[in-house]
Amino acid sequence: KSSHLKPEPIRVVVTGAAGQIAYSLLYMVAKGDVFGPNQPVILHLLDIPPMMPVLEGVVMELADCAIPLLRGVVPTADVAVAFKDVSAAFLVGAMPRKEGMERKDLLSANVKIFKEQGSALDRYAKKDVKVLVVGNPANTNALICSKYAPSIPKENFTAMTRLDQNRAQAQISSRLGVPVGEVSNVIIWGNHSSTQFPDASHALVNINGKQIAVPDAIKDDNWLRSMFVEIVQKRGATVIAARKMSSALSAAKAATDHMRDWFAGTAPGAVVSMGVISDGSYGAPKDVVFSFPVTIKDGKWRIVEGLVIDDFAKEKLALTGAELEEEKREAVAITQA
Ligand code: NAD
Ligand code: LMR
Repeated sequence: KSSHLKPEPIRVVVTGAAGQIAYSLLYMVAKGDVFGPNQPVILHLLDIPPMMPVLEGVVMELADCAIPLLRGVVPTADVAVAFKDVSAAFLVGAMPRKEGMERKDLLSANVKIFKEQGSALDRYAKKDVKVLVVGNPANTNALICSKYAPSIPKENFTAMTRLDQNRAQAQISSRLGVPVGEVSNVIIWGNHSSTQFPDASHALVNINGKQIAVPDAIKDDNWLRSMFVEIVQKRGATVIAARKMSSALSAAKAATDHMRDWFAGTAPGAVVSMGVISDGSYGAPKDVVFSFPVTIKDGKWRIVEGLVIDDFAKEKLALTGAELEEEKREAVAITQA
């Protein structure tokens, strides 16, 4: 009911607003999937100048959706306008990979975008802005974005591995023949790339009202260590091979899941995965954006500490950590050139 609405709309920017992911994401954000049914929003839509005519069409469609929570739409190609006073930023705008590419092949094309947008966030956004980087390679782009926004806490820059988490959850649900909502606490470690480590060893499944450890329910460690890991690592490429375009609907859904949990917090006992600035937990390299299991309270994430990591997992974490360090070196070289 309108009497429950918060009076002040918040400003939310979506970059790459004329692109594929945004086409689904804008609707989800506008109708309250992220900030809740009582929080009006003003959407800032950033894209590049040649896309302005297309963006106009998106603006028309948003108006035609007649969404009560949507209180304003600001389409622009100017970062100063796009990032002005925003409380949340979905950084989607970047080139997607094509068949046969790894996500890190996009580094040279995309990292400069995140340097520019980091500086713009630093100048124009609210100092408590929460930034989610979706554009690939997401972890390293988030790191660079944060480096160019020194007045905003490093904790406010995150990269999306929620799609990998959702994929992993879906695989387990299908393997066990249970609804996807009964599976929880699957962890994605490391990079949003084919070296990521999807880890079900701490995951839970609700069967007949009882929480059971996923490895006990699956009873096939070999599947969990091989097929499961590979399917999730390669799912993005598999979707590209089928669609000839990268995943968009599922990416938008994951972005809303990530940002909603960040703003609203996680339920007691629930663990989600986010690419966050590494403090070296679990032997991960420091000062890279590494996906960890986190819990969230009062808008702040915390890495879940004290999980038991076996030798198999240690090896996987080392591999994905090394890749992130390599990407960081390359990204720093590109941005300083
Ligand atoms: P798309 O090509 O359909 O859309 C990208 C949009 O970004 C285009 O409209 C383009 O004009 C715009 N853009 C380019 N440079 C820009 C800039 N400097 N400022 C603002 N906008 C700019 O691509 P998409 O399918 O929407 O994917 C976007 C990105 O998200 C890709 O890098 C893709 O690889 C990545 N992605 C990440 C995940 C993840 O899980 N982290 C999942 C899916 C896709
Ligand atoms: C995905 O995971 O679907 C995205 O990162 C797109 C891609 O290139 O795989």
